[in-house]
Amino acid sequence: MKKIFLIPLVFLILTSCGENSGKKSQTPTSEKKSDETLSSKIVLNSNDTMKFDQNMLLVEAGKTITLTLNHTGKFGKRGMGHNFVLLKADVDVSDFAQRAASAMKTEYIPEGDEIIAHTKLLGGGDTDTITFKAPKKGIYTFICTFPGHWQLMKGKFIVK
Ligand code: CO
Repeated sequence: MKKIFLIPLVFLILTSCGENSGKKSQTPTSEKKSDETLSSKIVLNSNDTMKFDQNMLLVEAGKTITLTLNHTGKFGKRGMGHNFVLLKADVDVSDFAQRAASAMKTEYIPEGDEIIAHTKLLGGGDTDTITFKAPKKGIYTFICTFPGHWQLMKGKFIVK
């Protein structure tokens, strides 16, 4: 006597529905790749003249951000160190930068919970890639926390 067991497969379909937003005219034919809809890649360069090559980065809320910071210069990280430090919206940047500058032991990343994401400190020729989730809609600030750099090395991280 044979018994046949049917194993039901349950598919959970997760749909994201903005409650308030209401769907705006979406082209029905285009099926977007999940890669493009869920993630954003950013490449930010820094150099020996103490500059980032972009002072404004634009991303969408909730996306997974893959950010690569390159130091395209020649100077070492002790003299011309660069990092990318993204701060929470309500942080006093000047005050934070001052504390960061004295956090030499931790490569200018001070203790606290003001940071959303940061790379390591780079010298010329170095690169670092980090992945983090874009925060909620708003305007954030990113800086290099190496002593004396933040006033030149800063930009807006805009989340739409
Ligand atoms: Co720097």
